[in-house]
Order: sequence, then structure tokens, then C-alpha cells
Amino acid sequence: MKRLGVNIDHVATVRNARGGFHPDPLTSAKLALKSGANSITIHLREDRRHIKDIDLKKISSYKKILLNLEIGANFDMLKIALKNKPNYVCIVPEKRKEITTEGGLNLKKNKNKIKKILKSLKNNNIRTSLFINPNINDVKISHQINTDCIEIHTGKFSELVKSNKNYLNEFNRIKKCSKLAKSLGLEVHAGHGLDYRSTKLLTKIFEIKEFNIGHFIIGEAIFNGFKKVINNFKKIIKK
Ligand code: PXP
Repeated sequence: MKRLGVNIDHVATVRNARGGFHPDPLTSAKLALKSGANSITIHLREDRRHIKDIDLKKISSYKKILLNLEIGANFDMLKIALKNKPNYVCIVPEKRKEITTEGGLNLKKNKNKIKKILKSLKNNNIRTSLFINPNINDVKISHQINTDCIEIHTGKFSELVKSNKNYLNEFNRIKKCSKLAKSLGLEVHAGHGLDYRSTKLLTKIFEIKEFNIGHFIIGEAIFNGFKKVINNFKKIIKK
């Protein structure tokens, strides 16, 4: 069974537009779970542009939620993660000026630091994941530094699908990396930029066990409702 992780960062984006309390990310997390989400993802960015520390505290204290926390690869964020004890942590690259996470981690450059962060998370029984580009070498390094899972950045693939361009090479890259990762004992996740069509295409890759989807779900919920959109995704990934 493939799983659906719902990223609620942009519930916080809408809330922050007015600086108040509505819409509340914790309330949306509870509704997402009730609607069939298997886990909730939040990204506590260094600049706190959407999810704030108080959101992390509230959501991680609500123990019915399987929480996947995305953090940049640094020791300050590690400290925050260990204090709040999410179930899962996904390490992502972070640049202050980017609109969204623009690519996977630079594992070659940050290998030792990430290895230390992974070790500390695992010692605290937190499932670990690395957000990487669909690149064979990055899969191999991920395995060497002992992560539990990888999440493959599907941004390029999603853009090709959306603009009706040929996505086959990118699809095959994702497939090859997923197969190698699984054969090395890593669990494979996919995320970024996904909508109904791109998700449906990726369900053909048997090795992908989890999809993490945010922006499209929150945006589409304006037209069809949060519950309905999550239901639609659940139906897509079940097939
Ligand atoms: N997975 C990771 C690791 C991410 O950083 C993001 C974006 O925050 C997502 C999935 C979700 O991407 P999107 O909001 O485009 O669905």
C-alpha cells in the first residue's frame, strides 16, 4: 500500500497573510487525517515564512498525528527537532531567497554533517529521510550515510507533465533511482509539485511507498474542499 503525506505549510501561508490564527494548521492536520491522510508534513523554515515554532509544538504534541518534519541540514534545526520529537524527519536543502525547495540536497558537499544529523535522529528513534534529486550517485551516498528513506524530488517531472512536454527521460530517472534505493534497503518517497496527473503516472513505480503533496492539495481545496481532494489522491495512489 502506498501512503499519502499531506503537507500543510500553505495553510500557514494563508493564516500568516493576515497575521491571526485562522486557518489553523493543527485543525487542518486533524481534518487531513480524518480524510485519509497517512501522515502530516510541515517544513519549519529558517525564516519561518509559513510554519512557526508554535505550530510545530502544537502539532507534535497531538500524538494521533504521524508527523513528518522537514528541516534544513544544520544543528540548530536538529536541536529543535529533537526537542519536539516528530515521528519522521526529512532533511531538505534550504536557501532563503527560494520560493520553494528548488532541488535535492548536495550530498557530496554536506555528507559528513548530514551523516551526524542522521545518526542523532536515529538514536532518538526518529525515521529519517533525505530529499534528493533523481540521481544514482545521490542514492548511493544516501545509503552510505545510513538514512532510512529517500524522498525523490519530483519538481522537474511535475513541470514537464504540467506543460505537456516529454517526461519519459525524467520518469525513467526516477524509476531507476527508486529501484536502486529499494535494492539497497531504503524506503522510497516522492514529492514536490505533484498534482493528480503526475501522481497517477508515478504510481506506476512500484518502489515508491509514500507521496508527500502540499501546494496542489491546498490550492485545489479552494475549489473542491480539503476532504474531497485528499480522497481523490487516496483513490489515485491506491490503484
Ligand atoms: N516534499 C518535500 C521534501 C518538500 O520540501 C515539499 C515542499 O515543501 C514537498 C514535498 C511538497 O511540495 P508541494 O508543496 O509542491 O506539493
